[in-house]
Amino acid sequence: MSTQKKILITGGAGFIGSHVVRLFINKYPEYQIYNLDALTYAGNLENLKDIENAPNYHFIKADIVDEKAMLDLFAEYKFDSVIHLAAESHVDRSIEDPLAFVRTNVIGTVNLLNAFRNTWKGNFEGKLFYHISTDEVYGTLGATGLFEETTPYDPNSPYSASKASSDHFVRAYGETYGMPYVVTNCSNNYGQNQFPEKLIPLFIHNIKNNKPLPVYGDGKYTRDWLYVVDHARAIDTVFHDGKEGETYNIGGFNEWQNIELIRVLIKQMDEKLGRPAGESEKLITYVTDRPGHDRRYAIDANKIKNELGWEPSVTFEQGLSITIDWYLANEEWLNNVTSGDYQKYYDGMYAER
Ligand code: NAD
Ligand code: TYD
Repeated sequence: MSTQKKILITGGAGFIGSHVVRLFINKYPEYQIYNLDALTYAGNLENLKDIENAPNYHFIKADIVDEKAMLDLFAEYKFDSVIHLAAESHVDRSIEDPLAFVRTNVIGTVNLLNAFRNTWKGNFEGKLFYHISTDEVYGTLGATGLFEETTPYDPNSPYSASKASSDHFVRAYGETYGMPYVVTNCSNNYGQNQFPEKLIPLFIHNIKNNKPLPVYGDGKYTRDWLYVVDHARAIDTVFHDGKEGETYNIGGFNEWQNIELIRVLIKQMDEKLGRPAGESEKLITYVTDRPGHDRRYAIDANKIKNELGWEPSVTFEQGLSITIDWYLANEEWLNNVTSGDYQKYYDGMYAER
């Protein structure tokens, strides 16, 4: 869709953003990539060490909540396209501090939309605002059915409510100001560089260190898991070939109940750590449930598959194996991000449960 070359990627120092930045830097040396990130606890420039000296890579440290900074940056750089990933992204944190999610996810997104609109003033030919969102905006599913692009929004957590709100603003700017946009709603990602507050990296870390594995509620909550590099590939596909004004759901065709997923993870980890099979199952600890916990997410990703030809490139077992190997080989990364403030968060979060 967009052939423009000056691309702003927000949240590029985070988990998914860093994989998107890397893919675009390596695949499109002719594009200038601007990674804008506030470097919150979840942002880490170490994630991009391998490409930080690439001639087409530029880093801007800025906060999308800062309206003036966004207007000034867009006035200076005149970005042709935006791929917007910057967000507060963890449901448990949103339960503790909803306003932080309103600030970054809602106000930050509107600041970017305003700055984009202000820069191009209605001359949007060849421009694109690509908003990255989540399947959590659709709420929760019962035992059957899948989220379609037409499923009504029904968010249940402060996180998903803030993402739903930002999605609505993006669409509203399309309708009201003719701003060219595309939105994708993706299922749960896993892979290298994910902050260890999320299920898979947290459990890898805890299994390795023989620490309890805190399973919320009955453990029968279901998520649809996608390897992060496959999400980055999907973003590349939609950015270039997606239809303006459309939404695409992205998923892994890969549903797992948490407790079943945890057993697969334990199996692979025990093998890799040379422990007797099933040894780490003793670490499973059922804890108080997350309030408002969505029972099941599952994506129908057939629109992007049939219309744009994207599908996942690895199986869950392969993706999980690559992910575990990465965490085992990158102990220093894990130690850096889990020291200091995160340790305080972890102690507080799990002490309450
Ligand atoms: P993440 O928390 O790992 O990274 C977020 C990044 O945004 C960090 O680098 C952080 O420093 C930056 N950031 C946060 N607030 C900012 C601000 N005010 N200004 C500038 N930068 C700021 O998140 P992630 O898991 O990589 O998710 C990226 C995007 O994808 C989010 O929009 C999220 O809603 C969406 N998403 C995530 C998943 C998932 O499973 N992780 C699934 C679907 C959609
Ligand atoms: P998470 O990785 O936080 O993603 P999301 O809430 O966005 O789906 O959690 C994935 C699932 O794992 C979810 O059902 C909550 C559950 N979970 C636990 O059981 N224990 C934990 O310590 C965490 C972080 C999550």
